[in-house]
Amino acid sequence: MKNYYVMTLFPDMVEDGLNTSIMGKAIEKKIINVETVDIRAFTKEKHGHVDDYPYGGGAGMVMQAQPVYDAYRFIEDKVKEKPYVIYMTPQGKVFNQAKAKELSHKDNIVFLCGHYEGIDERVLEMIVDENMSIGDYVLTGGEMPAMVMIDSISRLVPGVLGNDASWEDESFSDGLLEYPQYTRPEVFMEKKVPGVLMTGHHANIEKWRHEQSLKRTIERRPDLLSENKGAGCKNDNDTLIEEMIKYYKGAPKRIQHFLKVYEFASMIGRMENIDSGVQHILETAAIVHDIGIKKCEKKYGKCDGSLQEKEGPAIAAKMLRKLGYNPDVIARCGYLIAHHHTYSDISGIDYRILVEADFLVNLYEDNADKKAIITAYDRIFRTNSGKMLCRTMFALDTSGFAEKAGTNDNNCL
Ligand code: ADE
Repeated sequence: MKNYYVMTLFPDMVEDGLNTSIMGKAIEKKIINVETVDIRAFTKEKHGHVDDYPYGGGAGMVMQAQPVYDAYRFIEDKVKEKPYVIYMTPQGKVFNQAKAKELSHKDNIVFLCGHYEGIDERVLEMIVDENMSIGDYVLTGGEMPAMVMIDSISRLVPGVLGNDASWEDESFSDGLLEYPQYTRPEVFMEKKVPGVLMTGHHANIEKWRHEQSLKRTIERRPDLLSENKGAGCKNDNDTLIEEMIKYYKGAPKRIQHFLKVYEFASMIGRMENIDSGVQHILETAAIVHDIGIKKCEKKYGKCDGSLQEKEGPAIAAKMLRKLGYNPDVIARCGYLIAHHHTYSDISGIDYRILVEADFLVNLYEDNADKKAIITAYDRIFRTNSGKMLCRTMFALDTSGFAEKAGTNDNNCL
């Protein structure tokens, strides 16, 4: 059984909050045990006070060390080992799903809830293992944060949710937001359930759901894909560039091409101020976007866009996996490679910028004439930065062109 002890001046608040619904049932079934420990019951002060004025002056009162320490010792005696003590404070690390999972493996956790202006630092130094916040805002006390944490941790404990698997593929469990869900009826106010969900084809459904999760995360919470965050992408594109240079050994044109596309993509992404997680995906995809060419030339003797789109993702995935890239980053890069020559339904800012960057380079390398450049400008370019770069580079706002594009004997790019 998991034991949670809440050290508080307001035990009723915690008990009332946790004794209902799923948590109440889990307590009833003895899967978890929540005990409140009333700090006030441990004071030695004759009027029952637990707080005093701060040394050095200042507003508010500070909770005294003695009742907090004695309340803690009471729990320690009961547990017969050092329990894990979490002090609820806005100064702590912000709680998240990964932390909930980690804590769901601990048997005895103490939540210390402060009030007033805080708790005497000395007792915190003696008993606290970790400071935790539930967000960057200040509440009147630690009780609600403790309840939030207990709820979130407990639902990961086997038996608490009716269906143990149900938390596994939901939001955050793999660093991504959950895909959209639908239930009956099949048509609601003329809106239909996505067709793939009605096919019964499990592999396709799983693929669709993963794509939706990724798309949603990029749109709604791109920060989750940022470096050192939930999805933990590794930003090591220098190594990837080196690897790609080796891959295209003896083909300097290919190397020059991807480096130019990478630089334009990176620059547009920064100018458009896109999220760092999406920027990382964009830059990675730009480096490997044409990786399919080599195999296409060998296998088919040609390398049309559609063949590249077909062959590229698997080769990129292999290289990115070898370099330790995050699976979600690899999946999105695969999607971008598989679509970077498809301009009919450009969804996602990373997709848009990659195509714009590729055009900026290709229009020059393909020695495109003025008409072709203007057509591309109208049809492809949507970001302000991409448009500006295209207009400036090809002097579209003046009558002539800045320079005659170099000769291009490469019709594969
Ligand atoms: N106590 C007051 N505000 C808090 C917060 N945001 N998180 C945790 N404990 C708190």
